[in-house]
Amino acid sequence: DGLAVIVVAAGSGTRLGYGMPKALVPVAGRPILDIALESVADALPTARIIVTVPAGDTELSAVAAAHGARAVTGGATRAQSVACGLAALDSSARFVLVHDAARLLVPGRVTASVAAALESGERAVIPVLPVNDTVRGVDAQGHSTGTVDRSGLRAVQTPQGFEARLLVDVNLRAGLLERDQHGALAALDRAEDPEGITDDASLIERFAPEVPVTFVAGDEESFKVTRPFDLITARAVLEQRAR
Ligand code: C5P
Repeated sequence: DGLAVIVVAAGSGTRLGYGMPKALVPVAGRPILDIALESVADALPTARIIVTVPAGDTELSAVAAAHGARAVTGGATRAQSVACGLAALDSSARFVLVHDAARLLVPGRVTASVAAALESGERAVIPVLPVNDTVRGVDAQGHSTGTVDRSGLRAVQTPQGFEARLLVDVNLRAGLLERDQHGALAALDRAEDPEGITDDASLIERFAPEVPVTFVAGDEESFKVTRPFDLITARAVLEQRAR
């Protein structure tokens, strides 16, 4: 049905401190990627799934294969890994979702609502949550610049959904992708990402500002495993679901 999902799992996991790629770290005995792929495939059983893995990986590729997903080598940054995934996209893909493997517990409802918004004509869709903490600005010296009105802020999660052509286009404009002489897409190696690009939707804002980025409701359970504390939370959520 023209829907593809790129699950980015090429990160090193340095902040988690397990000495292995984060997506391979076990939660309740299963690699993070295994649980993430189950979460996505349950919500979108007919979608084609591409997984970006670190160079030289075999273990994550095996997990991907067990879910019928295709593994491709990612890049030096998340944005470059997404570009690697896009280069592997089937030309028949109309819509593409980009999801962090590290958000392994994303509820099916969230993934399905991103896909549904695309089907209904939106071109760029992201799941968001209100910000619950009081937030303050800070200057270059580390001094407070005052409280920010949190009612005007949203925290951004994944999966982020896009018209496939649009996401390819902004990646080309950003210099993250190129077309070779045969028209095939290839990811470009670069030292760093374009400035200010911290997620896929920020590429739309920057390189296709005429396209609105629309919101669907995110979920607390879509949190990203970043530090060891998050593994404790992830295991607790899994245990709760198994009850
Ligand atoms: O490091 P962080 O948790 O923000 O990364 C978010 C997601 O992007 C993770 O699932 C990670 O595996 C992926 N990633 C990637 N390629 C990189 C860096 C991160 O696929 N070079």
